[in-house]
Amino acid sequence: MKEIHASLNQLDKVVEYLEDTLPSSAIVFLRGDLAAGKTTLTQAIAKAKGIEGEVTSPTFSLQQCYMGTDSNLFHYDLYRLEHEEFMQLGLFEDFEKEGWHMVEWGSDELKTFLEAVGYSIFMVNIEVDKNSRIYKIGT
Ligand SMILES: Nc1ncnc2c1ncn2[C@@H]1O[C@H](COP(=O)(O)OP(=O)(O)O)[C@@H](O)[C@H]1O
Ligand SMILES: [Mg+2]
Repeated sequence: MKEIHASLNQLDKVVEYLEDTLPSSAIVFLRGDLAAGKTTLTQAIAKAKGIEGEVTSPTFSLQQCYMGTDSNLFHYDLYRLEHEEFMQLGLFEDFEKEGWHMVEWGSDELKTFLEAVGYSIFMVNIEVDKNSRIYKIGT
């Protein structure tokens, strides 16, 4: 478990650690309360990957895909989506696509399912600490 303390203008530290640690295809569950900084971290990753335009919260679309210069970035917001609904939508098939898959509000059930079919899930737990955040990163 790696712990990184970062304010908004230090997010590069977190992005660089992820770049050094994660394979070119990875599923990352972002955990933390509302307004912890899950979407913000995804935006910082998009910027580092050379993805143009803004990464918005995908709450109303479940998934957004961004094409980068050398890699793709997928962003999911599964808030209030039941595991059964997720499975029925067939969204899990997209995890096979090359790139990083950043998942907000991924359930324990989904994690268990993905691990059972052979994926490794990286966890990023974000805790609020005044004007900065503590990022706990592990599997
Ligand atoms: N590392 C950080 N340090 C300080 N503030 C942050 C940090 N990361 C995010 N924030 C702020 O927290 C707020 C909520 O961020 P957001 O990414 O929308 O949260 P979430 O997606 O977890 O609901 C935003 O105002 C954002 O600027
Ligand atoms: Mg968000």
